[in-house]
Amino acid sequence: MVRFGAFLVGLFFSGWLLISFIMGAIAYVTEPASPTAEHEFHLTPKHVSFSFDGPLGRYDKQQLQRGFQVYKEVCAACHSLKFVAFRDLAALGYNEAEIKAIAKDWPLKTPDVDPATGEISTRDGVPSDHFPKPFANNVAAAAANNNAIPPDLSLMAKARHHGSAYIYSLMTGYKDQPAELLRKFPDSKTPEGLYYNPYFANLNLAMAPPLSMDGQVTYGAGQPEPTVDQMAKDVSAFLTWTAEPKMENRKSAGVAVLFFLIIATALAYMSYRNIWADQKH
Ligand code: HEC
Repeated sequence: MVRFGAFLVGLFFSGWLLISFIMGAIAYVTEPASPTAEHEFHLTPKHVSFSFDGPLGRYDKQQLQRGFQVYKEVCAACHSLKFVAFRDLAALGYNEAEIKAIAKDWPLKTPDVDPATGEISTRDGVPSDHFPKPFANNVAAAAANNNAIPPDLSLMAKARHHGSAYIYSLMTGYKDQPAELLRKFPDSKTPEGLYYNPYFANLNLAMAPPLSMDGQVTYGAGQPEPTVDQMAKDVSAFLTWTAEPKMENRKSAGVAVLFFLIIATALAYMSYRNIWADQKH
């Protein structure tokens, strides 16, 4: 009896599965998902090469310093870098005195509490501080940015597919909406206050093009021209470093492990030959 019950339950579930599958297949054929503008016009990031590509890639410290400068002078007005402290900049080749000066002169002051009165105040940054946040909270951030909240950029390069290339493409990808898009999807006009960018997943974002003209940032002597393209590359490299500051260690460890495995394999093979040397096959 129990067996028969189990059989019925099994039959019921298999029948149910089969019917849902058939219904799904019918729906797929008779009412295919309608194409969307996002589906047809979203682009994968551009191909761009960085010094840190590949298994032996290394960060270019000059480039990271330029990218940091772009972040500081352009992006920091809206985006926080909450996981990065001023003293982490030592990895970019800045010395202690330079880091102290960067922290002290940072345009946004660090929030503090007056120990005597308990009142909220601000003070100059010190190397152990993390980069100050540009907005007090999400409400203030949204109010200043057309209801969108500028995300923290510390881990952005890891949070998106092809992060480094994505950030570069996003920076250089703003353009007018293609006429073809409006012809095919008349309802998909970029809403007021948003900007068209085919690299952004839903094509329209609330960030105005942050790098809009060559020479927006002035690079030091001996550095490349600060074209939009160059600044975009540099800031992407910098944000790749913030997301993965230990990338170089990881890659060196990988190479060492491969080297070790090759030697271990050779040794294992030699011992195998040795152990079985006097056995007839
Ligand atoms: C005026 C404020 C402002 C400035 C300056 C600014 N951004 Fe943004 N950014 C935003 C806002 C707002 C969003 C959220 C957009 C949205 O979700 O529609 C955003 C989103 C982003 C995103 C996330 C996109 C995604 O996939 O979710 C990245 C990456 C980014 N900004 C990079 C930068 C970089 C790099 C700079 C400096 C070169 C910069 N931003 C300067 C306001 C700003």
